[in-house]
Amino acid sequence: MNGHYIKEPWSIIEEGFHPGMQEASESIFSLGNGLMGQRANFEERYTGESLQGNYLAGVYYPDKTRVGWWKNGYPEYFAKVLNAPNWIGIDVEIDGVQLDLHKCEVVDFRRELNMQQGYLERRFTFVNKGKKLHISARRFLSMKRNEIGVIRYAVKSEDFSGTLSFTPYIDGNVVNRDSNYDEQFWEMMDTRSGKNLAHLKARTRKTGFITCMTMAYQLCLDEKILGPEVEVSERSDYVSNRVSLELEAGQEAVFLKYVSVLTSLNHDQEKMHEEGEVILQEAVKLGYAALFQEHSAVWENNWAHSDIIIEGDTAAQQGIRFNIFQLKQTYTGRDERLNIGPKGFTGEKYGGSTYWDTEAYLIPFYLSTAPEEVSRNLLVYRYKHLQKAIENAKKLGFNQGAALYPMVTMNGEECHNEWEITFEEIHRNGAIAYAIYNYTRYTGDSDYLAEYGLEVLIGISRFWRQRVNWSDVRGKYVMLGVTGPNEYENNVNNNWYTNKMASWTLSYTLEVLEAVMESSPGAYDEIKKRTGFNFKEETGGWKDVIEHLHFPYDEKKGVFLQQDGYMDKKQIMADDLDPVERPINQNWSWDRILRSCLIKQADVLQGIYTFEEEYDHEVTKRNFDFYEPRTVHESSLSPCVHSILASRIGMPEKAYEMYLRTSRLDLDDYNNEVNEGLHITSMGGTWMSVVYGFGGMKIREGMLSFEPRMPEGWKGLSFKIYHRGCTLKVSIDKSKVKIENLVGGDTELLLCGSKVELKAGRMVFADL
Ligand code: BGC
Repeated sequence: MNGHYIKEPWSIIEEGFHPGMQEASESIFSLGNGLMGQRANFEERYTGESLQGNYLAGVYYPDKTRVGWWKNGYPEYFAKVLNAPNWIGIDVEIDGVQLDLHKCEVVDFRRELNMQQGYLERRFTFVNKGKKLHISARRFLSMKRNEIGVIRYAVKSEDFSGTLSFTPYIDGNVVNRDSNYDEQFWEMMDTRSGKNLAHLKARTRKTGFITCMTMAYQLCLDEKILGPEVEVSERSDYVSNRVSLELEAGQEAVFLKYVSVLTSLNHDQEKMHEEGEVILQEAVKLGYAALFQEHSAVWENNWAHSDIIIEGDTAAQQGIRFNIFQLKQTYTGRDERLNIGPKGFTGEKYGGSTYWDTEAYLIPFYLSTAPEEVSRNLLVYRYKHLQKAIENAKKLGFNQGAALYPMVTMNGEECHNEWEITFEEIHRNGAIAYAIYNYTRYTGDSDYLAEYGLEVLIGISRFWRQRVNWSDVRGKYVMLGVTGPNEYENNVNNNWYTNKMASWTLSYTLEVLEAVMESSPGAYDEIKKRTGFNFKEETGGWKDVIEHLHFPYDEKKGVFLQQDGYMDKKQIMADDLDPVERPINQNWSWDRILRSCLIKQADVLQGIYTFEEEYDHEVTKRNFDFYEPRTVHESSLSPCVHSILASRIGMPEKAYEMYLRTSRLDLDDYNNEVNEGLHITSMGGTWMSVVYGFGGMKIREGMLSFEPRMPEGWKGLSFKIYHRGCTLKVSIDKSKVKIENLVGGDTELLLCGSKVELKAGRMVFADL
């Protein structure tokens, strides 16, 4: 699909109307503002292929599990972010004929996602009985008042004279395509429609979340405000206001729809109508232009702090901005009850729930581009789920406070229901432990350990201790029956990455125990009491595992083995596959995939990337050269890790190829699935491949370190980083790197291997 969207540095543009691409474009042009988000469905009726999607952060439905063979330990339900009542709808009629792009002649069509100012715009011309009308529809979800959405829908007649009607509505009759039992997830509570003010209030079944949506409109003809007769319509699941006007050739009618969207997560349900109305009326009073202005000012500020500028490569520039834009509009970090689903607000897949993606791929992004509290909130989210993680482990037969965090969750309960992942893909526990380390070493906030972190680490370490067993044959501890990050192998023994995460967590927990005992003895005693921790006995067991855990290794090739049996497999390379067979997960049987050596996503390489300071250049390169050709990158989480490692070991072309693959994964639809939604969580990985990969950023000796390696074709690269109260700007060109200390006090860093002092307001340089 490469080339479908026009490559512009600040916008994604589609020219021409392509009904076959509609669902893909609905994903690409999605909007969000942290509290709500939606696919780019049309405002007017559309009877062609379309996946309706309008989502509210933190509002979900527990869809009863559906599996062929029930296994003990499966969760009762799969939490799904649900398609919420449709508030964007505006039916448009021209002389009584409903506008529907599926049925009428569309002469030209252009849509643009403007990332600089955060809006979606469609412009098209259609022909009605030989007469032409031009439409321009723009909408945004306010980043400033994130309970407000606004649509400006303009109809200009070229040579048509006749009646034009607009029917703005809120429709509660919505479904999820992925509903397990074709159930309605919402029940209607109340609809009220008056002249120019209509509400719809609905409640999710079972979970009882309530949303109250309220709409108002303004209508202008050639910039004059009109107040036409309103036809009010109200059903139990639908409210609308219908207005008509006479349009002459050359005239333009502009319809503005304002909506407030409230949920019971943030409002008392008894007061939602009134509060929704107040919030809406304030917005209407301010008016479209002022609302847009304050909204785009938030984007301006976001870009001022988080933009990455790539000179000399528009595809790469557009790619990174698309990723940053999506991340910033999905999660703002203000609410510790929220997290980030793999598809954000852009589709139903993955249920909008939390995965290990957050800890492994997003924490690094937020650590460097947002205030400290944002990453802290993401960590606290897991702390609050600790008791559930302990219950979860208990269900699987673990005890004494061992914690297994869920593979997929909304509220801490496991929602995933495939045994090979739910029970076996346990490396996620390691990512949660590692995120605590990553956060504290980056921010220096070691109080977090005594306050929250240590308790989580104890629970996870207890789990690892119980999950391994002693093998008399090997004279080692082994970890049997696991699935590593590479989900194309299940139920394997001694996945190197999982074993590495386990033994690292145990060592780190020992370190943190010592540190907390020393720094906060009171807090340590409390934790001991709360967790029933027995220092001598438990840490003795952990040390034994650290010393004697088995790590599969191939002596001849000098590589860490993904799992004990990996070399028994027929060794084939991804490049040997016939391109028509790719992606293999859409073309091969599952059985064939499981038996092949092809790797879905970074696995051993994920470990080498995570613990890079432990592996020298040769070890990294040998493992990369072995695993990269065997990797098909059919998880979005894969190419970014390969890109970073390729940069580290001096393979710039590979690093660049993998960078394009990660940053343009959705724009060029590498895995043929963008119609399902965007890969939001891997977008943090794209950011890492620029900053950690090409920018060469690491933490070394407790300092930020930069060793840039910019791709050949780029003329320049610059980005900003928050670090311990400083805002640093890194600018790289072909011959040098410059680091400016824009905000904050004096600091020290490593630049191309040398320690430098960087005083407040000053800059340092190094030649490349
Ligand atoms: C990947 C997982 C990931 C999930 C959600 C899967 O395809 O294999 O590692 O957590 O997608 O992004």
